[in-house]
Amino acid sequence: MAESLVLAEREGAVAVVLLNRPEQLNALSDELMEELVARLRELDRDEEVRAIVLGGNERAFAAGADIGELAQASAIELYYQRRVERWNAIRGLWTPLVAAVSGYCLGGGCELAMSCDLIVASESAQFGQPETGLGIIPGAGGTQRLTRAVGKALAMDMILSGRRLSAHEALAAGLVARVVAKEAWLDEAKRVAGDIAEKGPVATRLAKESVDRAYETGLAAGLEAERRALYLSFASEDAKEGLTAFAEKRKPDFKGR
Ligand code: CAA
Repeated sequence: MAESLVLAEREGAVAVVLLNRPEQLNALSDELMEELVARLRELDRDEEVRAIVLGGNERAFAAGADIGELAQASAIELYYQRRVERWNAIRGLWTPLVAAVSGYCLGGGCELAMSCDLIVASESAQFGQPETGLGIIPGAGGTQRLTRAVGKALAMDMILSGRRLSAHEALAAGLVARVVAKEAWLDEAKRVAGDIAEKGPVATRLAKESVDRAYETGLAAGLEAERRALYLSFASEDAKEGLTAFAEKRKPDFKGR
């Protein structure tokens, strides 16, 4: 039986999902993406899962879309593969997604990492959007998300010249949240996910949605959305539990209600 292209395991409230096409540096084939989205959706529906880590292996998070497949496909075939729906599905997940990036994080790989809620990078990580070198352009948010994350100057440099950012450059530019030693890339991402998983699930969901709004709307509309989300969080049992637990000097027992 063919080995799964996506491996998943649970560690308490954290699910760890690893891309598993090491010989091709986790190139995001059609089949891999299909499997990835199905697996993520499944985990997202499981209320026991409160955070997901998405990683590759030490050598590569992912080296982009599968170039062999792209070379064979016509525009209409790509269109009918509904690739956009898959990427939207990843962005539509309720469960916070932490990218654990080690090694190559290029093209669609960089776009996948940017589709997560935050990125934890190993010192070995390299971020880039090399598509124009193939005669195409980034097609899963690279020109948009990268520009919002690092600003126009750096985004243009990376996308037009093929410049790759080291982990520390990516940290300084605001693309990644944390840089850790090579050997800690997965453990640190799991630790961050564990921290997220301990918080109130309703509040976490609302906070994630509110931060996303900062990308999509103007300030006034974003502040309005934040205010409504705050009131909604107050309507949760978790809010009562969290506020009471603090007063009683104990750890809150959040139920996600
Ligand atoms: N698609 C398919 N196969 C890939 C791949 C990709 N994106 N990236 C690497 N591979 C394969 C290589 O073909 C090679 O396979 P073989 O052993 O069968 O020859 C194997 O992975 C190992 O790669 P290399 O021998 O090239 O390893 P390296 O260490 O010398 O170089 C690298 C690593 C710099 C990442 C180089 O592999 C590379 O440049 N890869 C392509 C990166 C790229 O251009 N990504 C963008 C893809 S397009 C995209 O993502 C589109 C989009 O957004 C819409």
